[in-house]
Amino acid sequence: MRIIVCKDYDEMSQKAAAIVIKELILNPEMNIGLATGSSPIGLYKNLIDAYEKKIISFKDVSTFNLDEYVGIERTHPQSYYSFMYENLFKYIDIQEENINIPDNDLSRIDELSTDYDKRLLGKQRDIQILGIGKNGHIGFNEPGASLSNETFITELNEQTRIDNSRFFGSLEDVPKFAITMGIKNIMYAKKIVMIASGESKAKVINEAFNGAITTEVPASILQLHPDLVLIVDEEAASKIENIDFLNRL
Ligand code: F6R
Repeated sequence: MRIIVCKDYDEMSQKAAAIVIKELILNPEMNIGLATGSSPIGLYKNLIDAYEKKIISFKDVSTFNLDEYVGIERTHPQSYYSFMYENLFKYIDIQEENINIPDNDLSRIDELSTDYDKRLLGKQRDIQILGIGKNGHIGFNEPGASLSNETFITELNEQTRIDNSRFFGSLEDVPKFAITMGIKNIMYAKKIVMIASGESKAKVINEAFNGAITTEVPASILQLHPDLVLIVDEEAASKIENIDFLNRL
């Protein structure tokens, strides 16, 4: 794995964007796995900037989001569908048919997971962007989720609902369920770029990469990925032990 320690969120966002931009210049038809939440907003701003400067185009890019809430409409301002349009898609030339976000239509609940797996099938992501939850979740693979899962509907962990209540105003308004790529889907990406910033992520980052591989810390499975780049700010890196050793793995 490669660990890049940055001075702050802005530098983390620039470094992550540089990896995506480089890949996109080499491969204009790339498939990219996207995350939501606070971590990738700066990265998306950098991508929009590169698009506006005509350095890159998303015309032939396909995107695959990690997850979506279940129990709110896609049009809800806090849906991940809305998030992606507000923070990236409405500013770039991506084609609507190349955007893939897990559907959350309750009337088709039994088909949603297999439908998303069908979309993912044969579309290996060249890069998968990941954030990490304070409890070690990736996508919405919460502690205890099977490492062999493909897309599934999951109950959100209490910690995750508390963390995400900052977007909803109150805990009661945070959905209790979500649809998410499983660990198996995530691990299938050619390259994984995880970004994390702030002191609140420091403990779990160390557990994920220096601890045992365990379903209790879902991100720990990433130790087995052959091409993992971890981009962290100084605060998130502050508890990583053996950083030089990890960088040589
Ligand atoms: C979001 C996602 C989550 C977040 C994680 C960190 O699509 O899959 O795993 O990456 O909850 O969220 P932030 O970046 O808000 O700290």
